[in-house]
Order: sequence, then C-alpha cells, then structure tokens
Amino acid sequence: MSENKKTPKRIAVMTSGGDAPGMNAFVRSTVRRALSCGLEVFGIMEAYQGLIENKIEKLNYDCVCNLTKQGGTVLKTSRSAEFMTLAGQKKAAAVLHENKIDALICCGGNGSYKGLEALAKVWSGQVIGAPGTIDNDVRYTDFTIGFDTAVNTAMKAIDNLRDTGDSHDMHFLVEVMGRHCGDIAKAVGIACGAVDVLIPETPSNIDSVVNSIRRKGHNIIVVAEGDETGGVNQLAQVLTDAFHDKYPDEKVNFRICVLGHVQRGGDPSARDRILAHNMGEFCVDAILNKKHLQACAIQGEKLVLTDLS
Ligand code: F6P
Repeated sequence: MSENKKTPKRIAVMTSGGDAPGMNAFVRSTVRRALSCGLEVFGIMEAYQGLIENKIEKLNYDCVCNLTKQGGTVLKTSRSAEFMTLAGQKKAAAVLHENKIDALICCGGNGSYKGLEALAKVWSGQVIGAPGTIDNDVRYTDFTIGFDTAVNTAMKAIDNLRDTGDSHDMHFLVEVMGRHCGDIAKAVGIACGAVDVLIPETPSNIDSVVNSIRRKGHNIIVVAEGDETGGVNQLAQVLTDAFHDKYPDEKVNFRICVLGHVQRGGDPSARDRILAHNMGEFCVDAILNKKHLQACAIQGEKLVLTDLS
C-alpha cells in the first residue's frame, strides 16, 4: 500500500540507528516545513525504544534553531531489541495512537526502514523513511545523509597520518566504517591517494598489496571494516606473513589505525546539510500527498520516492 486516505494533522519525526551528520538538519527541515503547512509536529526521542517508552515532545519553530550545523542528533537515537518483537511493535503503535499521531517520518538506515515496515503492520498511520547513515548502503538512493561528512572526516584523519607516515617511512593500515559496504573506503581511498583499498564487494588480492607497498617506503592502505580479511589487525598479520614469504631478507612493519566512531561525529558538510534539508521538506510533502510505506531517495540530482521494502 503506498497511499493513505486520511488527511494528516499531527506528524512525528525521529532519527534511528547509528547517528549521522546531517540528521539535525533533517529534523529542522521537517519541523519547519510541517509547521509552515499547518501541521503539528512531535519529536520522538531515542528512536524506536523511546517510542515504546512514550518519549514524545511537541516541537515548535524555536526548538530547531541553529540545528543545521550540529553533528549527532538532538532527538537522540538507539538500537532497540524490544522493538524487534511483535509485542514491542504493538506497544509503539499504541503510543502513536494515544498521542493521535497520523504520520511518522524516520531518518535512518536499513534497520530503521525495516522498523517502519513492521510498525505499519500494526498501526494505521502513514510511514515515510529518509536515508540517514554514514554507510551509504541504502538501496535506490545515490547518497545517504551523513556519508559525505564521514568521508571528509576520514580523509582529514588520513591526511594527518600521511604526514607522519611520510616522515618515518611507515605503512599505515587504516580501517574505516561502513558495515558491509565499501563506499566510505572507496571514496576515502581515492581522496587520499591510498595505494590500495580493500572492500567487501571484491575479493582482496594480498599478493598485489604486497607488491604495491614494496614500491614505496610509506603507504596508506584503506580497509573497509566489512572486508573479508576480517579487519586491520588480522590483515596486518596476513600481509606481514605474505611479505616475508616473498621477500625473506626485507623488513616490513605495519601501523594500524581504526578510525571508528570519530567518523560519525562532527559538523555536517555543506553537501549533507543541503541533502538533509531537501529530503526533510520532501518527506513532509510526501506525507501531505498521502504517501505511505515510501522512502525518500536521491537519484542523480532528483529526489524521488521509492518503496520502503
Ligand atoms: O551504521 C553506522 C555504523 O557506524 C557502521 O558503520 C558501523 O558498523 C556501526 O554503525 C557501528 O555500530 P555501533 O555504534 O552500534 O557500534
């Protein structure tokens, strides 16, 4: 079902899953657009878990002042085990019903979209998703909110590593986030001129990495956390062994850097702010157009709606 007949009056917005830079800009945009269209807007704190616990606050124009530039999410976020159960989903539906919410917009990743689908089975309101995750792993959208900032954050960190690596002739293995997706690693690897990038989508060629690093005294190798080599620590061992097998008389030493959650923080880039702003307005318009079980996506330069499923 992609259309809902009732005219919405009270809508809610939440951010879910891992936080992503730009989520605040998204919230601001949905609130301002909804208010300007005469809707009442509510923020659900702490995502699906907060929904179950009735953590709902009315939002006004001033609540979302100065949010565009802030990283993280003021609505907070969480990963809820309780919401994975039918009982949890029914509790969440009851809370939405009690608060007379007609529609819910959720900015998050794949798990958050699945949550909306589950909710729609036990609640009669409209649900709309927006892709918010640094991983860039949501189908049918070229970009997710937060990806660009995460790439820039990782790029700056690796640029710093390059200075010290260059001075000391070090080989750096840098692990970036992305869950099962290599998009952050690919983008950062190109932006930083890495000698190699290891991603889950393609089998890693250890022999080729060994040959690449031998050419220069210092190197940056970017490794996606989901790569089949199992992360940078295991990879360092595999590469050291392979190097010594091939060149027994030469020394090699890898330095490891796991960038981790640092990639999720920080002020959003201009690109993420603009994407989030446009998507926020687009989601509210989708609600007003009675859309249901849809997700906002950017394809080329165009915002489109796709099926949540
Ligand atoms: O989905 C965003 C993400 O940062 C992934 O890149 C990473 O694998 C995961 O979340 C980490 O999750 P958590 O913060 O729950 O450890």
